[in-house]
Amino acid sequence: MKANEAYKEAVAHGRYSEHVRSLRGKYDHVRVVWEDMITCFFLRPYLETIVNEKKKGKEGLRFYDLGCGTGDGYQLLSTLPAKTRLSEHDNRLIPEELLEHYKGVDLSIELLKEGENLLGHYDHVNFCKGDFSDGLPLEENEPPYDLYFTSYGTFSHCTDEEIEKLLVDIGRHAHDGSIVVGDWIGRYSYEWQNQWAQDIHKQPYIDYKINYLYDDEQRDEIEVSSFPMRVMTPQEVSEIVDRASQKTGVDLEILRFFDRSVFVGRHMETGTYNDNPQPLRMMVSSLFEPGLRTYFPDLLVDYRPKEGFAWQNRILSTMANSWNTLVNYTIDLLEHYDNRGASLPREPETSLPALKKGFKAMRITVEASRELYGDVRADLIESQLGLALRSLEMSLQRGMGLGHGLVSVIRVTK
Ligand SMILES: C[S@@+](CC[C@H](N)C(=O)[O-])C[C@H]1O[C@@H](n2cnc3c(N)ncnc32)[C@H](O)[C@@H]1O
Repeated sequence: MKANEAYKEAVAHGRYSEHVRSLRGKYDHVRVVWEDMITCFFLRPYLETIVNEKKKGKEGLRFYDLGCGTGDGYQLLSTLPAKTRLSEHDNRLIPEELLEHYKGVDLSIELLKEGENLLGHYDHVNFCKGDFSDGLPLEENEPPYDLYFTSYGTFSHCTDEEIEKLLVDIGRHAHDGSIVVGDWIGRYSYEWQNQWAQDIHKQPYIDYKINYLYDDEQRDEIEVSSFPMRVMTPQEVSEIVDRASQKTGVDLEILRFFDRSVFVGRHMETGTYNDNPQPLRMMVSSLFEPGLRTYFPDLLVDYRPKEGFAWQNRILSTMANSWNTLVNYTIDLLEHYDNRGASLPREPETSLPALKKGFKAMRITVEASRELYGDVRADLIESQLGLALRSLEMSLQRGMGLGHGLVSVIRVTK
């Protein structure tokens, strides 16, 4: 299988399984602070319901992580923040003692081995090699799971027929109230604007490369394996889910969609599928790096509309303009801050509540940093800007396939 070869190369490169949060690599700051947190934010309300139910009974939570890699789903779910008050120090939604079983399945032996090294010491963690394109890998009499989880475009590795069969199997295996998280890549991500097609039936896949792990100079010289990835709109996902629902007679209800990483997807800077590459992911990662100042002009989004894609251009232009206004206002605030006599500039007028909140957060942060010692720009103001930009994306995204990731949350009702 082509994807397996590509992941093997990625692990051999080193940056794919290095579990240290850093500026670059698989676990860069954008993945950990932006992407994982957005997934947590949208998933939390549904998990809260399950967790509250479990707390009343004797049984713990059971998670099935499909395409688990090195057990990333375990890391994400076990540290998922609850909606707690700031004054409380313990903010995990799922206490360790409530997690009864985690099963991770993947095709890649290399990744599973890494997962074993990291998490194999937990009795309730179990990794197995399996191929979900043949349906849901299960043992005999295996009890149902509360959550069937995928992350970072894992469902895009499969054909629609394979996903339909997988959902049929999940529908049959799950219990009433189980949640399925289906993670695809978005059809209209700006990262692959060259691949946008008018007739979606003609272009269901992109030829995907994990070449973003390499530096710019190396990227053109190195040959990496490619594999097909299914690009999705919510309509296309709904059709598959409906077909699976009809086949099982089990209600598979899509509770919500969300777009993740609208301007910070990994291919934003490779230019592999877009003639206008920009270092946005690196710049946002730099915002979260302690002790490092970011060159703000490189943080501005240069959105070039594509003819014939009116609604996509409209939404993405609005998002890009809002993003840029917030970055420019921050630049303005810092310039006035340096001129100690001058008061800080007023927040610009806007009808977008999310942008209004961003302006306010930046103004207050810059104002409050006056009395602090150290590099407050690198360590405080920049990470606050990163959080404000993330909030902006979370508020303005519509779950329409306009981000790197298109995620669906599905409930099984029996
Ligand atoms: C995009 S990666 C996600 C990895 C991990 N869940 C994460 O959060 O980083 C997709 C994963 O799915 C695995 N995969 C792809 N096709 C698969 C299949 N048919 N059966 C099992 N695993 C598969 C790959 O080996 C890879 O680890």
